Amino acid sequence: MDVYGDIGNKCIEKMNAGVYHYTPAGHTLSPVRQGDNRKDVAEASLWQMWMAHAPLTLVITAEYSRITVKYRQRGIRYAIIEAGHIGQNIFLQCQAMGLEAGIVGAFEDQEIIRALGIKKTHEPLLIMPVGYAG
Ligand SMILES: Cc1cc2nc3c(=O)[nH]c(=O)nc-3n(C[C@H](O)[C@H](O)[C@H](O)COP(=O)(O)O)c2cc1C
Repeated sequence: MDVYGDIGNKCIEKMNAGVYHYTPAGHTLSPVRQGDNRKDVAEASLWQMWMAHAPLTLVITAEYSRITVKYRQRGIRYAIIEAGHIGQNIFLQCQAMGLEAGIVGAFEDQEIIRALGIKKTHEPLLIMPVGYAG
């Protein structure tokens, strides 16, 4: 599983707008692409333009070739289950931090990959816009 953060312009202190890849080991972020592309992500999500207002959007992806090496076809099932776990943890963490989160399953996979500039093998499963309640 890989999680990406898509950050808007002037949305998070000391962080430039862009797409970042999260590495759990070390709890670090690596830049993937610079610039505010929230509108592109919202358009790729069947034009759910409310998403473009979120300062942070988290994208949970699976690399099926990686997980099926070990678990064969059943790996697909594990990846989908794990996406749910990650999403639930994001909801819980947001609640603990006084943030709101939404969940989006309606999007064009290839358009999201293109909008984020992430690896083509990292298939987006869930998108979670995060922010303070308006
Ligand atoms: C996996 C998943 C994907 C979802 N995708 C979307 C989405 O793309 N757009 C949206 O507006 N709501 C989406 N929802 C939210 C559902 O529409 C919402 O949970 C449902 O309407 C029930 O909401 P309620 O209990 O607040 O009435 C998604 C929910 C889940 C669990």
